[in-house]
Order: sequence, then C-alpha cells, then structure tokens
Amino acid sequence: MKRRHFLRSATGASTLWILRSGALAGPTAPSNRLNIALIGVWGRALAHYDWLKDENVVALCDINERHLAEATKKFPNAQTYVDWRKCLDQKGLDAVVCCTADHTHAHIATWAINRGLHVYMEKPLANSVEEARVVRAKYLAKRDKVATQVGTQRHAHENFNRIRELVHDGAIGELKAAWAWGNRKIRRDGYLPPAGDPPEWLHWDLWLGPSPWHPYNPGYFSGGPGANCLQWNMYWDFGSGQVGDMGSHTMDLVWNVIDGTHPVSAEGKGEPFNPEVTPVELTTTFEIPANSWRPAITVQWCQGGAMPNSPREYIDLNKIGHGAMFKGSRGVLVCDFTTRVLIPVGEKDDMTYYQPRSKERLIPPMGAFAGEWVRACKSSDHRTSCNFDYAGIMIEMMLLGLVAYRVGKKLEYDGTQGRVTNVPEANELLCRKYREGWPLDG
Ligand SMILES: NC(=O)c1ccc[n+]([C@@H]2O[C@H](COP(=O)([O-])OP(=O)(O)OC[C@H]3O[C@@H](n4cnc5c(N)ncnc54)[C@H](O)[C@@H]3O)[C@@H](O)[C@H]2O)c1
Repeated sequence: MKRRHFLRSATGASTLWILRSGALAGPTAPSNRLNIALIGVWGRALAHYDWLKDENVVALCDINERHLAEATKKFPNAQTYVDWRKCLDQKGLDAVVCCTADHTHAHIATWAINRGLHVYMEKPLANSVEEARVVRAKYLAKRDKVATQVGTQRHAHENFNRIRELVHDGAIGELKAAWAWGNRKIRRDGYLPPAGDPPEWLHWDLWLGPSPWHPYNPGYFSGGPGANCLQWNMYWDFGSGQVGDMGSHTMDLVWNVIDGTHPVSAEGKGEPFNPEVTPVELTTTFEIPANSWRPAITVQWCQGGAMPNSPREYIDLNKIGHGAMFKGSRGVLVCDFTTRVLIPVGEKDDMTYYQPRSKERLIPPMGAFAGEWVRACKSSDHRTSCNFDYAGIMIEMMLLGLVAYRVGKKLEYDGTQGRVTNVPEANELLCRKYREGWPLDG
C-alpha cells in the first residue's frame, strides 16, 4: 500500500481511512489504531502516555538514552532512536507526537508532513517567523491528508467557547482591542558556561540539532518532568521565552475569539535587548485587520511584569497570573483559562443589546484535546481546533513581536509575503540559521 488512502463516498458525507498498518475499519474499531512515533519521550511526553496506550506506539526517539529506556518499559514493542531524522523514516508510521525542545519543533513538523504523517506538536509550533510560515504552508498544502494539533490543551476548557460566544454575540458591543498576559519571570544571564563532556547516555550534539553549537552544561537538564523546558527556553537558540511558552496558551484565549489574520504591524517594548537571553519584561502590540464581523483591532501581549491597564480600579489584573481581556464599545470581558467576568461600561450599559444564547446554540465542547486529533487522524469528518493553520498564524504574530522588540521600531508587515516592508534589517531576524545537516524542509 502506498501511504494511506482516503476513501470518500460520492456525497462526501462519510469518510474512512486505511491506516498504514493495513487495517480497514471505522474510526472507533479496535483494529483502527494509529502507528505513532513519540519523539521526546519524557517530561511533557509523560502527560500523553495514557491516551497513547490506546494507539500503537511503534517508535520512540530521545537524545537521552535513560529516558528512552524508561519509555521502552511502557511501550515495549517500539523501535528506539536517538536521532529523529532516522526515526521519521521508519516504515509504516501514521503519525508523530513530538515533545522535544522548541528549537526542533518546526523541523520535526515539516519533515513529518513531508512524509505524509499526522502531527501532534507540543507548543510552541515554531521558533522563528519563517518557521511558523513554512510549517503552516506545508500543512495547508496537505490539509486534506494530514491532521495536525499544537499542544495547547487548555483550549479544551469550555470557558474558551463561552468567551467566544460572549464577544460574538455582542455582550461587550463592537470589539475594539484584546490583551493577553503572563506573569512568569525566569531570568538568566546568558548561555551556561562549559561544564565538561556530556554523559555517554546524553547526545548533546543531537539535542542542539539545528541550533548553533554551545558547550554542554547539565543545567540545561536540571528541571523536573514537564518543567525542564524552563531550563532552556529563554535562550534565543533554544526557545522564545514566555512568548512561546505561556504565550502559546494564553494568546490562544484571544485567538480563539478574534478570527485573526496576519497582523499589518508589530511593535515591541521591554527591558534592554540581551543577545543571549529572551526578555523577561515585554509588551508587543499588533494591528489585526478587520474581518466580516468586527473592525480592525489591536492585540497586545504583556509578560514579565508588563500589564494592560485595569478597566476599573477595583479589578486587580495582577491577581490573574495568565489572563486575557477584551474591550468593546459597551463593555469589557476579563478572563483566565476557566473563568470570566463581564463588565458593562458607560451610560447605555443596560445589556438589552445582548441576547444570551439558548442552550442548544452553545458551541459544543471539544472533548478530550488529544482525542480530537486522534479522531481527525482517523477520519477527515473530524477537524482539529488548534491545527497548524490556526496556531501557525498566531505564533507567527507572537514571534514577529519579538523581532519588533529586537529592532526597537514599529514594523509594517506584509503577511502574504512574510516580509517587513519598512525596516529592511528586521527581515534578517525573521529566520534562524541552521547547522549543516539540519535543513528546515527535509
Ligand atoms: N502543553 C503544555 O502544557 C506543556 C507543558 C510542558 C512542556 N510543554 C512543551 O513540551 C516540550 C518539552 O518540554 P519538557 O519540559 O518536557 O522538556 P525536556 O527538556 O524535559 O524534554 C522532553 C524530552 O525530550 C527529549 N528531547 C529533547 N530534545 C530532543 C530531540 N532533539 N530529539 C529527541 N528527544 C529530545 C528530552 O531528552 C526529554 O526526554 C517543550 O516544547 C515545551 O514547551 C508543553
């Protein structure tokens, strides 16, 4: 069988996948399991073990052989790899779940889609504007064949739906602006100093992968499971700090509402630029064009102490560690991932202009976040909420904000071409340079 075949009835109403395993069955049949490669098997990956057990994990890849050995106990039938480039060429794969360090995400996503594989990619999807664009374009070209999801699992909270409904149904009038913020402050001075050779079970060169060479230091691996990303994601060559970390989750609250396209401008302000470490305090501001249901709006990301102004003195936004706010012509909506507060403003704030939805018209819950992706892998009748189109433009915008911060100027942006039109030197910063052997599109 050449790759997987997609069968659709003449009406297009029902769909069925034949998986590479050769099984022909409906999406819920026990034989219809995905053949999955898990790349990055510890840390965040542990949170996926439960649902992965219901599929066939046929390949495990990690640069840390000790982590690999532990994972093999859970998934004894899987082949093991230390180099994801080799892992992706294993025959018979259907899908990839990737929990590696940020600086490899766009590479693994692109290589996987090039091989016709479905991809669940931990956030952030990319580490540069160019990476976000390449991954999104790859996905868009194959969206009928591959299912993708970025690991912003908080999106499954039904509060996301309620916030969207309130704004779309006019509870705050016409939308004018939106903010998202996060309070994490992880300050580092610069790349860690050399600390001898890595242990023989840790493949440091493969961990660096596409990024420029840096000396090994165990400090990059000194965090607990699922939190070790905070040991490396604030260094430019390995991550984008809070922009890609909590920014991926929290801006999702805004992105899910606004039906946004590429920003036409970006500005960034914060602490002085450090060439080794991403900023702690940062404010980035974007102009997002109008669409069919709202005018042009501004969207702002605030982190590390920077905060939007509170709509009322009695509301202390600092009490919301990671939150979002929507301002409309008739009110303000303040929220976090699971709760929301609506504040009508002005003399005409009687709320008669707003009709709450009937129960039947509520946006249905998305259900299990990874389950949505699994269903979409098995049948094109299902879609994913945080696919590489939706999440791709969002992270492109966020990363463009970091470029604006670095050049210290308001950038005008052509989202069709992916070019800054008024500050030529900013275009140099839209992409990363890779080491030999690590092309983005491989
Ligand atoms: N969705 C969430 O809520 C959430 C939570 C935590 C972390 N994350 C994301 O998950 C990713 C991993 O975070 P973490 O804290 O688990 O990091 P980590 O440093 O613990 O890495 C996870 C595993 O991946 C392996 N790994 C790293 N680079 C690899 C490579 N190139 N090839 C193969 N294996 C590799 C590591 O050895 C480790 O076993 C990050 O991108 C982070 O942003 C998401």
